Amino acid sequence: MLVPMLPLVLLLASQRVQGLRQNVTLAIILPQKNTDYPWAWPRIGPAVERAIRVINSDAALLPNHRLQYFFKSSENKAGICSETIAPLMAVDLKLLHDPWVFIGPGCSYSASPVGLFTSHWDVPMVTAGAPAVAFDKSVYHSVTNTGPTHKKLGKFALRICERFQWREHVLLLFNDNKVDDRPCFFAVEGLFTELGKANITLVDMVFNEKQLPVNYSDIIPDIHQTGRVVFSCCSPDVFRQMMVRFHQAALLPQKEYVFFYIDVFGQSLKDTQNKPWARGDHDDPVAMEAYKSVKILTYSEPQNKEYKDFVSHLKSDAIKNFNFTIDDSLMNIIPGGFYDGLMMYTHALNETLTASGERPPGKKVTEKMWNRTYHGALGADPDWHVEYPEPFCVVENSTTTIPCSFTHPVVHKKTDVKHRVTRVVWCPDHNVCWGTLSNVYDSWNVAADRWNVTADSRFVYLGDRVGNCTLQIIKTLKGDAATYRFRFVTNANGYTGEKGVRITVTSKCYF
Ligand SMILES: *[C@@H]1O[C@H](CO)[C@@H](O)[C@H](O)[C@H]1NC(C)=O
Ligand SMILES: *[C@@H]1O[C@H](CO)[C@@H](O)[C@H](O)[C@H]1NC(C)=O
Ligand SMILES: *[C@@H]1O[C@H](CO)[C@@H](O)[C@H](O)[C@H]1NC(C)=O
Ligand SMILES: *[C@@H]1O[C@H](CO)[C@@H](O)[C@H](O)[C@H]1NC(C)=O
Ligand SMILES: *[C@@H]1O[C@H](CO)[C@@H](O)[C@H](O)[C@H]1NC(C)=O
Ligand SMILES: *[C@@H]1O[C@H](CO)[C@@H](O)[C@H](O)[C@H]1NC(C)=O
Ligand SMILES: *[C@@H]1O[C@H](CO)[C@@H](O)[C@H](O)[C@H]1NC(C)=O
Ligand SMILES: *[C@@H]1O[C@H](CO)[C@@H](O)[C@H](O)[C@H]1NC(C)=O
Ligand SMILES: *[C@@H]1O[C@H](CO)[C@@H](O)[C@H](O)[C@H]1NC(C)=O
Repeated sequence: MLVPMLPLVLLLASQRVQGLRQNVTLAIILPQKNTDYPWAWPRIGPAVERAIRVINSDAALLPNHRLQYFFKSSENKAGICSETIAPLMAVDLKLLHDPWVFIGPGCSYSASPVGLFTSHWDVPMVTAGAPAVAFDKSVYHSVTNTGPTHKKLGKFALRICERFQWREHVLLLFNDNKVDDRPCFFAVEGLFTELGKANITLVDMVFNEKQLPVNYSDIIPDIHQTGRVVFSCCSPDVFRQMMVRFHQAALLPQKEYVFFYIDVFGQSLKDTQNKPWARGDHDDPVAMEAYKSVKILTYSEPQNKEYKDFVSHLKSDAIKNFNFTIDDSLMNIIPGGFYDGLMMYTHALNETLTASGERPPGKKVTEKMWNRTYHGALGADPDWHVEYPEPFCVVENSTTTIPCSFTHPVVHKKTDVKHRVTRVVWCPDHNVCWGTLSNVYDSWNVAADRWNVTADSRFVYLGDRVGNCTLQIIKTLKGDAATYRFRFVTNANGYTGEKGVRITVTSKCYF
């Protein structure tokens, strides 16, 4: 009778160890059903649950803790994000479960009151939604955002304006009906803030596309009056109709203006198989012509393997556990942000738990999340890349600049050594800039004449060793016409931007 005793004792002991694992409770507040929201629960739930499974089965990360979550919806009866329901749910969750962290809300109007509460309670709040610029860290000091924000969108628009030296006649044209989460209002607010800070002369113009019919004869003269660079945000159909009308009105030659259509999740491209002008009606030819002056601003899809794996898991988990079909869409960046946010929270918690494994002050955990470089599903680690301009023409004997930027991963994947750029090279008509003789610029030559290279002094490197590879050509000669490529070498690797930039040199350029 002694024999069965041993397994029994072992079983009891392992149960005891399990029982000792302290619960880390997450309180989740997101829209439960309305999957129009990129942060709707059927989209985010699969990511959160996967993160929890990964963390709880990791023997090293939080060995004495176990994550569990409680969910409440921020939707009202009409399925719309509510700024009154969300804080009530937050209070309920706080009283019932005393959570260690809040996940969500995603809508800006719901996140705002909840963020004030969590800051007051000193409980960290992690979201990849809440993109509005108003989430200032001095007021919302408990809020960590791991998603794309409208402040960044504004900074991107600013870069565009700076690049082309557009300082006036910038028009922000957007739809707003003051209900729901006002996506266009908040997106344009990001531009308004950032362009405004840079003293770019701005006009904003709002219309309500829900008040049908939209009076285009009203809007179009106003655009013509004020705007040459028009950032617009509204539904794809209204935008297309506006472009058709604007083009037909022919108030200006087409080259006098440019429209940017803010469509961060690229829905207008997806719904039309990358022909955002096409509707299959008689306006298509005009629309296609009109769209020649349109640029669509979307988020950039992460290209790293981790993200592709993440999306493939997300889709299968969503159908299996949430009976919801997730398509390939830029919206999947948002679940990626929630996944990374929760992972990062756990690492921050790991580093801040007290010696006895007790819950640390929320402030301490949040501090550990901010300013952190985290290599997650969204791939915070940049890829090897060189960004060149489109091919262009240079007038003979003039001085020209090739704007250029480059990125590389922070650390070497195998050795964990931090990459440091040690050499930068520009070469004409060579696929990898491998050799040394034909380089027009080579920092090794400049530094030490080590390779006995005769680089051309008319080629001046205006860039740096961090991310700017801008090159200047002084007194461009006919013979300078070529495809130029940039190569950089780090202490661990080298990389050449394959695409290159083709330059033609003539006595007169036609723009
Ligand atoms: C953790 O939560 C589970 C279920 O929610 C509960 O049964 C268990 O007692 C909790 N453990 C501790 C240590 O509080
Ligand atoms: C934090 O993580 C490390 C290794 O990942 C582990 O050794 C350590 O026990 C963890 N700390 C806590 C408090 O869980
Ligand atoms: C914008 O204008 C203000 C007032 O004229 C000035 O103080 C500020 O430096 C300017 N900012 C930029 C970025 O030019
Ligand atoms: C549209 O705007 C024009 C110009 O402001 C105005 O004359 C016209 O009556 C408006 N049409 C409608 C249907 O409101
Ligand atoms: C899954 O969703 C579909 C509609 O999308 C519904 O018809 C079906 O009943 C659902 N299945 C379950 C098991 O809930
Ligand atoms: C984050 O880094 C920036 C610049 O490196 C610094 O100015 C800022 O104070 C840091 N913020 C936190 C919360 O550590
Ligand atoms: C440097 O270049 C010159 C001229 O092409 C050549 O004569 C000389 O041998 C080279 N020196 C070395 C060390 O390669
Ligand atoms: C790169 O450097 C050039 C020359 O200094 C500068 O004009 C340009 O603005 C820089 N580009 C970026 C992206 O910082
Ligand atoms: C460029 O300069 C050369 C010599 O200085 C001259 O022969 C040529 O005509 C110039 N080309 C143009 C387009 O001005």
